[in-house]
Amino acid sequence: MNNQNVKMPSLLYGTAWKKEHTADLVVQAVLSGFRGIDTACQPKHYNEPQVGEAIKRLGAHGVMREELFVQTKFTPLSGQDPQRVPYDPNVSLDAQVAHSFEVSKRNLGTEYVDSLVLHSPLFPYENLRTVWVAMEKIYNDGGARAIGISNCYDLELLKRLYQDADVKPSVVQNRFYSESGYDIPLRQWCNDHGITYQSFWSLTANPHLLGSEIVRNMAVHYSKTPAQILYRYLNHVRIVPLIGSTSHEHMTQDLKIFEFELTTAEIQSITELLG
Ligand SMILES: NC(=O)c1ccc[n+]([C@@H]2O[C@H](COP(=O)([O-])OP(=O)(O)OC[C@H]3O[C@@H](n4cnc5c(N)ncnc54)[C@H](OP(=O)(O)O)[C@@H]3O)[C@@H](O)[C@H]2O)c1
Repeated sequence: MNNQNVKMPSLLYGTAWKKEHTADLVVQAVLSGFRGIDTACQPKHYNEPQVGEAIKRLGAHGVMREELFVQTKFTPLSGQDPQRVPYDPNVSLDAQVAHSFEVSKRNLGTEYVDSLVLHSPLFPYENLRTVWVAMEKIYNDGGARAIGISNCYDLELLKRLYQDADVKPSVVQNRFYSESGYDIPLRQWCNDHGITYQSFWSLTANPHLLGSEIVRNMAVHYSKTPAQILYRYLNHVRIVPLIGSTSHEHMTQDLKIFEFELTTAEIQSITELLG
């Protein structure tokens, strides 16, 4: 449970870069056992209408909208393909947020999302505040059950946003990689403030972790893959990883990480690998 009392699954299915295969893959992921879906109103990388199509198709399979945790994002103009901006780029920032959210609701065929995330901070800070207030309005109107921010690696900025906000951020979605020092102080602060930290690039940025003797030995010990060990570790340290696999085998393996637990000493030894 995060500070907006929204229950989030421990793994989220990421839908970036799946283009016309998005709907089929989301259906496959959910039928395999995923219950959380991450998307964005950003046609450059995400096919949000196909996520909506998948949600509709899942109903026919007996998986209802209410059983799913659906997260989308407002992507500022700097993150959009100028040829395919999904909202009116000529209106004020707060109107862009409102318009983008209306498009998301239409794409997803839903009246509310479980989480609405700002794709990246805006500068100057006043612009970030404007967008945040527009997201708070969506929250207060019942359109989003939680709001959060992504690509926010500056703890001081996160603290300022938190302090000024009426509706506090309850999600941070960041790249899990060595260049940010794995966000260690920021993650601690998130834990202390009821903010769920979601990770992406968890595998792709970390071949050195996956290939380390420590992780490989644990994989042998538990008869799991190094990826399963890393995802299990992330959950143990209260990180919700985004998993964008296109492979049914990997989806199934990843959902099996709850079959085993790492010991405190094992968790500590992976933490030490983060430096
Ligand atoms: N907020 C942001 O700015 C941002 C940026 C990037 C991504 N994201 C989100 O994060 C999601 C995940 O993206 P990602 O970049 O972290 O990577 P990813 O899409 O999860 O890709 C992981 C890669 O590892 C491979 N893999 C090998 N073993 C695997 C296993 N057991 N489980 C899963 N994958 C395995 C996958 O191949 P197979 O397909 O063969 O399994 C894939 O090539 C995206 O879909 C998106 O929702 C957000």
